Amino acid sequence: MLDTDQKMHAPSDDFAASAHIDRARYDEMYARSIHDPDGFWGEHAKRLDWIKAPTKVKNTSFDYGNVSIKWFEDGTLNVAANCIDRHLTDRGDQTAIIWVPDEDDGSDQHITYKQLSSHVNKFANVLKKMGVEKGDRVVIYLPMIPQAAYAMLACARIGAVHSVVFAGFSPDALAQRVNGCEAKVVITSDGAPRGGKVTDLKGNTDRAMDKVTHDAQVLVVKRHGQPCNMVEGRDHWLHEMEDGVDDHCDPVEMNAEDPLFVLYTSGSTGAPKGVVHTTGGYLLYTAITHEYTFDYKDGDVYWCTADVGWVTGHSYIVYGPLANGATTLMFEGVPTYPDAGRCWKIVQDHKVAQFYTAPTAIRALMGKGDDFVTKYDRSSIKVLGTVGEPINPEAWNWYDKVVGEGRCPIVDTWWQTETGGHMLTPLPGATPTKPGSATLPFFGIKPVVLDPEAGTEKDGNGVEGILAIADSWPGQMRTVYGDHERFENTYFQQYKGYYFSGDGCTRDEDSYYWITGRVDDVLNVSGHRMGTAEVESALVAHPAVSEAAVVGVPHDVKGQGIYCYVSLMAGHDPSDDLKKELADWVRKEIGPIAKPDFIQFAPGLPKTRSGKIMRRILRKVAANEHDSLGDTSTLAEPEVVDDLIEHRLNR
Ligand code: WT7
Repeated sequence: MLDTDQKMHAPSDDFAASAHIDRARYDEMYARSIHDPDGFWGEHAKRLDWIKAPTKVKNTSFDYGNVSIKWFEDGTLNVAANCIDRHLTDRGDQTAIIWVPDEDDGSDQHITYKQLSSHVNKFANVLKKMGVEKGDRVVIYLPMIPQAAYAMLACARIGAVHSVVFAGFSPDALAQRVNGCEAKVVITSDGAPRGGKVTDLKGNTDRAMDKVTHDAQVLVVKRHGQPCNMVEGRDHWLHEMEDGVDDHCDPVEMNAEDPLFVLYTSGSTGAPKGVVHTTGGYLLYTAITHEYTFDYKDGDVYWCTADVGWVTGHSYIVYGPLANGATTLMFEGVPTYPDAGRCWKIVQDHKVAQFYTAPTAIRALMGKGDDFVTKYDRSSIKVLGTVGEPINPEAWNWYDKVVGEGRCPIVDTWWQTETGGHMLTPLPGATPTKPGSATLPFFGIKPVVLDPEAGTEKDGNGVEGILAIADSWPGQMRTVYGDHERFENTYFQQYKGYYFSGDGCTRDEDSYYWITGRVDDVLNVSGHRMGTAEVESALVAHPAVSEAAVVGVPHDVKGQGIYCYVSLMAGHDPSDDLKKELADWVRKEIGPIAKPDFIQFAPGLPKTRSGKIMRRILRKVAANEHDSLGDTSTLAEPEVVDDLIEHRLNR
């Protein structure tokens, strides 16, 4: 149960006094951003370097059937020039990226803005040499190595649209995304070391390429030295392609509304959607949120532990920090390798000032004991952040007391792939926090709580309902790649006039927002989004399975675990071996993050008379709450529920 009755933690007077934004400034800027969005965002747009400054600011409509979102539509700029070129005069020798490899062997790299420029320009020229032009799509399937950032920025420099695919995804998932955006080039590496194990990314890519239905080339980064099978005419080594290539490449002038990237994310139905973000609004929004949410100041070393395969890595490892001329740390490994002290050792080694991670990582580390934390010097930390799922007060308090020594404000940032950047978040010098609450809206964000049935706004405080957003903001996604109708249907159909977030929330007596979790069929496993439909379609693709239904169950470390109900084809019998086979099958079809935690064989699934699976009941049974199943009068065959309860897995 959500416990909104938590103690307030106010920022110290010292912190507030030196912060970019204190409480008075927040109130004043927020009011202005809502009453005069054109004035507010027009002014803040000056933090970017425009080729042609925009004369128009906001032109947006949430009107279902005519949804259209445009910001700064007559402005032109280049994202790579904003993240690199404009910093070269003042901070060319400053470190842009600190790279920390998987092995703790002292081979950390400091890449200056000048070096970043040279790498990105060369990379851009290689892509051009391979025939990539403005508007073409490039898939990036790389581990957490600097070349992932170079590749993204190289695309941005020449106006190509990147689509990063998380290196933990399977060959099938990769092929689906390469086909989905008809990518001209797939960038990968030989092997990806992570937590001491090496994934054969090039091998995965080869298997994916067998399923790619158009001509595409492969560019391979040498990371690990694994032998690779290079296909003549299709595959190229980056280091060979870079040989003799010029390290100057003119940035292409892009319209503010030209697409910057596509990132696939899970929805409640069907295959993952290609979320499209554009150039001007996205960059402005990630830059301003990075500076204010983390109170980033010149000279700080900032570290976000996400992977560039997720939106957090796009917005808060690469684009936001580099647009601000920051030093951003990129870590190849995992928090528990070689041991649970790794993060704090990195903090000590590099004097990290802002540390941003997911609640699942905090819970996992909390379980390993305080000694791993306290033996390292964390006095450099000024701000701690969390993202990805609700944080339970116990983990929040441990983060605050043990990691932050009670002196660092914690920013619990609620946002989504679709929103581009932070939507609800404390500002560390302005907002007193309560463990478990994402607190208040960022500038320009108008959150509302809707009645789930009526779709009307619930006024005042102490209310609960659907979290929706009443007006556009610059970082908002613009469309679903190739399917604008799906965009409108997913986000604007159910509640007319609002952006529907898919989350439920409470607004407490202090106007603070508390996210209660997804209200649709999207799971949140270790802070990663997973569509129940995706896991179900992987399961039914197995020859022994006739039908499957997947729900989330509470999980101590992962937040949610994956619980699957599976009906078998005639001639197949339930067994532990088959359970294991099915779990491995899903892992192989989608990737390790989708591996089921529980598989229950079910002779029948609870359905309505029209044949719709009643997941509400399946969720209750999985969570061992079958005493409160709710209304079961619409069930076609009520007796199937008894069987499910009898055979539910003892978690
Ligand atoms: C979903 C979005 C945004 C980057 C990471 C995930 C959940 C995200 C919080 C938070 C409670 C959160 C929501 C949201 N979520 N941040 N601070 N408190 N829930 O991005 O994969 O697009 O997932 O993650 O349910 O809808 P994503």
